[in-house]
Amino acid sequence: MTSAELRIGVLGSGSGSNCEAILKACASGRIPAKVALVLSDVRDALILERAHRYGIKAEFLGASQLKTKLEPALEEKALRMLLDAGVRFVALAGFMRVLKSPMLHGFRGHIVNIHPSLLPAFPGLRAWEQALKFGAKVTGCTVHFVDESIDGGPIILQQAVPILPQDSPETLLQRIQLVEHQIYPEAIRLFAQGKLEIVGRTVKILE
Ligand code: GRF
Repeated sequence: MTSAELRIGVLGSGSGSNCEAILKACASGRIPAKVALVLSDVRDALILERAHRYGIKAEFLGASQLKTKLEPALEEKALRMLLDAGVRFVALAGFMRVLKSPMLHGFRGHIVNIHPSLLPAFPGLRAWEQALKFGAKVTGCTVHFVDESIDGGPIILQQAVPILPQDSPETLLQRIQLVEHQIYPEAIRLFAQGKLEIVGRTVKILE
């Protein structure tokens, strides 16, 4: 397969602003790849509507009864749908479930996530709020490969965002997301062009 043929799957549970940044970057040719399928575990998630606007196949996967992960059968279904769509690389974009072995085995080294803090600081939920409450002066966002850990896989790109004295959780998140929309497509471009190499915990960027 040439890098130009890379087919991407995106999984999200919410607004999908990062998904839209990826869709734009693919449409403009900045990322030499195509988003083949968008899946959500939330029936009316805006991410599905955004994908449809770009003419991309987007489907409700089904709702999980479990709180933090997908039922194994649902995760198997996601894997099957992605493979059937020819997907070879998965971007998590606000997907609120921890992935387990079916997806992690199926796409090892081929799944990435964006997290709204400078990992390893503030993993987990509402990371921007954690940073603000902690009194940090700087936070940011991280694109990383996904493994069995929670927000702990090898880091691809990070960018800092200052925390201002007058910041509320909302204003801080807004500024973090502007940066996310830059670095997430950039990290995927690097992957699509074969410029990322995982060496232990380190991701080497070959350009
Ligand atoms: C982003 O802030 C991302 O860091 C986190 O979830 C949020 C998703 O936002 N993982 P959106 O759905 O891409 O707008």
